[in-house]
Amino acid sequence: MKKEMKIGLLGLGVVATGVVERLAAQQKQIEEETGVKLTIAKALVLDPVEKAAFANTHGFELTTKLEDITENAEIDIVIELIGRISPAKEYILTALKNGKHVVTANKDLIAQHGQEIIEVAKAQNVGFYYEASVGGGIPLLRPLATSYAADSITSVKGIVNGTTNYMLTKMMEDQLDYQTALEQAQNLGFAESDPTNDVDGIDAAYKMIILGAFAFGAELKVTDLAIQGIRNVQAADVKVAQSLGYEVKLIGEVKQVGEGVTASVSPVLVAKNHPLAMIKNEYNGVFIESQGIGQSLLYGPGAGALPTATSVLADLVEIADRTQGKQDFAPFNRKVANAPLVNRENVKENYFISVSLVTSAIETEEFVKGLVEQGYRVVYKAIDTKNNRLSLIVNHLTPTDYQTLLTKLATQGMIQGQLGVMGDFNEN
Ligand code: HSE
Repeated sequence: MKKEMKIGLLGLGVVATGVVERLAAQQKQIEEETGVKLTIAKALVLDPVEKAAFANTHGFELTTKLEDITENAEIDIVIELIGRISPAKEYILTALKNGKHVVTANKDLIAQHGQEIIEVAKAQNVGFYYEASVGGGIPLLRPLATSYAADSITSVKGIVNGTTNYMLTKMMEDQLDYQTALEQAQNLGFAESDPTNDVDGIDAAYKMIILGAFAFGAELKVTDLAIQGIRNVQAADVKVAQSLGYEVKLIGEVKQVGEGVTASVSPVLVAKNHPLAMIKNEYNGVFIESQGIGQSLLYGPGAGALPTATSVLADLVEIADRTQGKQDFAPFNRKVANAPLVNRENVKENYFISVSLVTSAIETEEFVKGLVEQGYRVVYKAIDTKNNRLSLIVNHLTPTDYQTLLTKLATQGMIQGQLGVMGDFNEN
């Protein structure tokens, strides 16, 4: 039985610093629970001078050479917190091939190259865990892999990006402009080093790919998802949405359609009484519908150093436990690939669309009447004569129907806002 396991950190940024601090606080408890003392031995950094005082306080060494960690016989576990694909992927593969267990929070990497890495970990019978990659501090992947193992999930809808949820909350509640809200999220350490992935929905897409694998065994690629970020969310549309009883949220969704799944990330109107509408700031929530449990919500801080670090620590505990129990290191996700992607054309969604009008109110009324006669299910219509604006909610559109409708609406003026609508619109 191992009494001590030594850790090598790759990177010493916001989350890694949190890991060092949380481990210092929890080391004794983890040792009591697992029988293993977890100790940070070394950290790979670019600039050892900058981090020297911190490393000294916490009693570990700094290095600029990868092999000091991956080829160090003393080190049992490598925690990768550099992010992005290269060189993180090569570093992780090197560590695994050298028989180290690996823990990471790198959603970009798992979403795009997860399978390849999982195969290497399996061949080496070492642990490869990534609880922190989705939902920051929320226990999500482990419950999906265990508590839902006997259930059948039909849909997973989530607010899985803390930065954009923080921004939308501040834009709606404090009337902050987009740029100020983004700067605040960056200063709080929520955003990626390049926040493009946050605001354009890519970070959320990576997380939905991972959730899709745990919920359905789906093997989704980024190009399989319809992805829209929050750049074009207009203050005027948010106001209309709120007056109709909705909040605007960036929602990632993977849902079952027939024998397959479909996946998307987009700004969506969420009814104020839906649990996801109540999730504010950097908090994330994943709303799961399944045959056995019914509806459940996993909620918590989706970004930030200490919550994310705590998820990393949970993975360390799993490695310590399995090492002590001499258990095999089976892949983290036990769902087998069995959910093909369905053709989006078979999926009907509801949309909110607003148009800055060039036609008169009477002509607009006639135009909307015409849409209804053509079979469009217009469930909400408002013509704001003061601001020359038409707002519509149209239900049950395939992607082709939706594009055709946008073309028709363009004859009335400029399309200002396009948002998805969750559920059927009910004027009461
Ligand atoms: N940039 C990410 C977010 C960090 O804002 O959710 C956590 O994955």
